[in-house]
Amino acid sequence: MAAGLSAAKSPARFTWGVSTSSYQIEGAANEDGRGPSIWDSYCRQPGRIANGDTGDIACDHYHRYREDVGLMRQLGVNAYRFSTSWPRVMPQGRGEVNEAGLAFYDRLIDELLAAGIEPWLCLYHWDLPQALGDLGGWTNPDSAHWFADYATLIGRSYGDRVKRYATFNEPSVFTLFGYCLGGSAPGVADRVALLRAIHHVNLAHGAAVDRLRASVPEASLGAIHNYQPCRPASGDGADLLAAQRLDAYWNGAFPDPQLLGSYPPLLAEAMAPHLRPDDLAQICRPVDWFGLNHYSPHYVSADVGSALGFRFAAAPEGVLRSTMGWPVEPDAFRDTLLNVNDRYRLPVYVLENGTAARDAVDAEGDVADQPRIDYLRAYTGAMFAAIAAGADVRGYFIWSLLDNFEWGSGYGQRFGLVYVDYPTLRRIPKASFRWYAQLIKSGPFPPSPPAPPYRAP
Ligand code: FCB
Repeated sequence: MAAGLSAAKSPARFTWGVSTSSYQIEGAANEDGRGPSIWDSYCRQPGRIANGDTGDIACDHYHRYREDVGLMRQLGVNAYRFSTSWPRVMPQGRGEVNEAGLAFYDRLIDELLAAGIEPWLCLYHWDLPQALGDLGGWTNPDSAHWFADYATLIGRSYGDRVKRYATFNEPSVFTLFGYCLGGSAPGVADRVALLRAIHHVNLAHGAAVDRLRASVPEASLGAIHNYQPCRPASGDGADLLAAQRLDAYWNGAFPDPQLLGSYPPLLAEAMAPHLRPDDLAQICRPVDWFGLNHYSPHYVSADVGSALGFRFAAAPEGVLRSTMGWPVEPDAFRDTLLNVNDRYRLPVYVLENGTAARDAVDAEGDVADQPRIDYLRAYTGAMFAAIAAGADVRGYFIWSLLDNFEWGSGYGQRFGLVYVDYPTLRRIPKASFRWYAQLIKSGPFPPSPPAPPYRAP
């Protein structure tokens, strides 16, 4: 913990929150006119998801959202990040609008506002309408227009009450694993498809930013990037180059064109055939903050047999790992915050951080998740240290409020502050829930972020 913080008063503008996403918690997959998404289809392909799990029911948040907002109120968060499900509001992805789907988010937003919790709305957390998937999904050059129209619908529907919008959640993750490396919907394995998807998602981001500015008064906009240091697994030159390549795809392919106006040098040649003259100007639109998701660093080895020349490697001996196998290294979080702060010169909101753990309900009916508390204490400490060292961090959101559908791991990995007993859907706040409530209420608090750096007009 950085010294001298515990006595400080929580700066009024620091935001404490929790995050979730539509497909992972809502359920109600076939209700009120929702169309299928690429994740519904992907889950039905044998062998894709652990235990054959699907998001059909998930946490049944669609019906239990009032109880879930009640839990947030109990927790004391000032903000809640969720995503809207594109196929719930536009079942075919374009054209016809589903009023019943829109009405769900109206109810949720009103419930949040009544509880004094600011809604942070993410437009895309991976559940592309299947009808658009059938047209090639993000490899289709029209995808930026589809997304812009969807953004307009959302902005017009909720812009009177919701001011905070993120365009995409972790574009590097869903493009890399969805279009090339495997492990994510739609399950395509093709390097050219990946390059096309990267560029179209970037164009979609720029177009959506423009549409949200036009449809939402006083909009506060950003995108959410999963930024992770990429470390070579050995001192070998080939591993070093592999780590630099992963860094370009993982950390650079979206923030660099969106915020600096160019693709990272290691990708520039590969991207060149996909660029039209005006594209980078359309992608690089002014935004208000940098949304950061961070869990751990990556270790990387060279692999000439793989499509991109690298593979993920194990962390060095002795590094603690979560049940996901992700290394627990809070110093990498501090360094990432400082690095992102220096490189992009925007206020940073940590919009996901947290850990999976081996949780179980004990004889007293409690879930004593000390490993999660240890993780969160260490990582918030690292964030406080980054703020003390000059990073302009304005908020911190834990992934996640509830245990939920963890993509390829199904329901086998639990990230929630609240345990979900899936057979009954009963919610049981864990010890970490009480720990976070206490942190929000009584500190230690982060020091005030420094004034934003001067930028020439
Ligand atoms: C992130 C995703 C989120 C969740 C966490 C554990 O990469 O954005 O949906 O799965 O990891």
